[in-house]
Amino acid sequence: MIVTIDGPAGAGKSTIARTLAGRLGFRFLDTGAMYRAVAWAAMERGHDWAQAEALVVLAGELQLDVDEQHVAVNGRDVTREIRTPEVTAATHYAANNPGVREILVTQQRRAAGKDDIVTEGRDQGTVVFPHAECKIYLTASPEERARRRTKELVARGQATTVEEVLAAQNRRDASDSSREVGPLVPASDAIEVATDGLSPDEVLDRLEELVRGKMSS
Ligand code: DC
Repeated sequence: MIVTIDGPAGAGKSTIARTLAGRLGFRFLDTGAMYRAVAWAAMERGHDWAQAEALVVLAGELQLDVDEQHVAVNGRDVTREIRTPEVTAATHYAANNPGVREILVTQQRRAAGKDDIVTEGRDQGTVVFPHAECKIYLTASPEERARRRTKELVARGQATTVEEVLAAQNRRDASDSSREVGPLVPASDAIEVATDGLSPDEVLDRLEELVRGKMSS
């Protein structure tokens, strides 16, 4: 079974999707990590962002290994490096590039194979796995998302404020929603779950119930 979880930045998708996969005994695929890894590799190589075609070539040459815990680019573990504010801010160059998306979409389908999987991103239910048996669109208000994200960043030792995070998040939301290929939109058959005011455990219980309902139907 394929479970897709799409939604905007900061809706809590990563943690929720990973934990849900654990509860169900499914594999987990973090597709945002793949776009981040391409951006990280480009920055490492001093890539000129104006050269969109060169970014596609680079993405095609990279060996990306994304598993439940780690992300590696050509064998180097970059799990932490891809989460810095610099990489986060540059990732739209990879995500908005149709050629890069084509390469990563193919890799995502291959990575899923025939396994039971929870896959998380922006276009999983719409583009990558349109026939997924269970599609979830996870949302929360911009303010709630920014508050959660600020807490996470501060816990990781990054000095920032809710206002700063909200401004950056608004830019990413606009970029995610307006791109021509793979924009952030709910699939017509996705179940929308708003997480404002819910604890992670409450969200997880609700999603697990949804998936188990689909499994037995
Ligand atoms: O979920 P995240 O913050 O790790 O995603 C990083 C960026 O990649 C974000 O700008 C959205 C983009 N992305 C995408 O375009 N398609 C996906 N399937 C996953 C993420």
